[in-house]
Amino acid sequence: EKFSSGLAVFFATLGSAVGLGNIWKFPYLTGEFGGGAFLLIYFLCILFVGLPIMLGEFYIGRKTRKNAVGALKALKPGTSWKYIGLMGVVASYLIMFFYSCVAGWVYFYLCKALNGDFAAITMESAKTQFGDVIMGPLSPIVWQIIVLIVVASILAMGVKKGIEKITKTLMPLLFILIIICDIRALTLPGASEGIHFLFQVDFSKLTATAILTAMGLAFFKLSLGMGTMMTYGSYFTEDNNLFSTAAKVALSDTLVSMLAGLAIFPTVFSFGMEPGAGPGLLFMTIPLVFSQMPFGNILLAAFFFLTAIAATTAMLSLVEVPIAYWTEEKGLSRKKAAIINALVIGIIGILATLSVDKSSLLGDVTFWGKGFFDWFDYISSNILLPVGGLLISLLVGYGIKREDLHYELSNQGTLQVNTLINVFYFIVRYVTPALLVVVFLNSIGIIKL
Ligand code: TRP
Repeated sequence: EKFSSGLAVFFATLGSAVGLGNIWKFPYLTGEFGGGAFLLIYFLCILFVGLPIMLGEFYIGRKTRKNAVGALKALKPGTSWKYIGLMGVVASYLIMFFYSCVAGWVYFYLCKALNGDFAAITMESAKTQFGDVIMGPLSPIVWQIIVLIVVASILAMGVKKGIEKITKTLMPLLFILIIICDIRALTLPGASEGIHFLFQVDFSKLTATAILTAMGLAFFKLSLGMGTMMTYGSYFTEDNNLFSTAAKVALSDTLVSMLAGLAIFPTVFSFGMEPGAGPGLLFMTIPLVFSQMPFGNILLAAFFFLTAIAATTAMLSLVEVPIAYWTEEKGLSRKKAAIINALVIGIIGILATLSVDKSSLLGDVTFWGKGFFDWFDYISSNILLPVGGLLISLLVGYGIKREDLHYELSNQGTLQVNTLINVFYFIVRYVTPALLVVVFLNSIGIIKL
């Protein structure tokens, strides 16, 4: 089964990339790590690490037309490269444990917005409302389970075509709604301070952890390093220009993140909030921006509705990796695989939901200062995805004959992309792996940037 056209390829891939990463994670990490300098490192990571690895994954997927593990087995039979795929299956679970929790908050906020709960919102009540939502303890778990039931049902039906259609119509709407939000946020009193925060590059704020986090975010954002883009590449059409798809997806995705940042930071500064407020940043600011607008309540509900859809399509692509593995490699039926995966994610994911905040039920259970929620995120984004990415860049750069790469990337010689292939080959062989290694060594203190 393939995507139906070039446009469908683009929207389906964008549907995987755009999600809570843009709207929730990107702003809160940029806020936590001090703005401009973090943003600059993030852009460099997208360009020199994200884009080449995305192309590499597309290449592997489309050439072999298999799931992540099967693709690596087919590409390099009898070698250990297949473990990249298995690592990806593990990373997918770790991400889902906390992603399903945050998606639950979004579903919950949608309900609250429909209910008119944010009508008389103030800065203080925005904080207490978020606190109540995450503290539960029962309601955030129930919402997380609802999220997983939705995801598992869609996956069990195996509706690839449905995903293209949904993203094609709803993604542009989300885009427009964020722009409306931007216009309001940018005209709030004191908004310019937020712009300043976002764009002023101050390298003194840049720690080793900030650099590693920016790199991890680039992987997380573009759904890289764990086989999602291999799996999607395996559904691409034969005549798709992989270079242009990768460039368009990376650019659009970064644009959505920037627009989200331009809605959130002016609001943060205008209301005198803390940019480093952490995972609640989105949930405390967005209701405030919309409360300042005519039809604010309806627009707010629409915003959370579209964010819920974006989060859901991103999760479908995340869980597609283990589902494809269990069905294609282990012979499980799609239905069984969907149910079992949702159960496993739900049971362990509850640990994330109960450890979001220090005052949560499991808030005291920490290992080296981090609770479950933070560890699931840290191990996946900052370790497994970049390590997976490093291995993919080495595989594509050194493990594949240059002619083979040329043949596939030029669509059997039908595209005139020689220069692009040469640039790509150089970057994926030397620049990407070198940057990844330097960032890793810097983060464990062996070298000092
Ligand atoms: N990119 C998505 C987001 O930003 C999350 C996501 C979907 C993902 N599939 C992935 C992250 C695969 C890492 C790997 O919300």
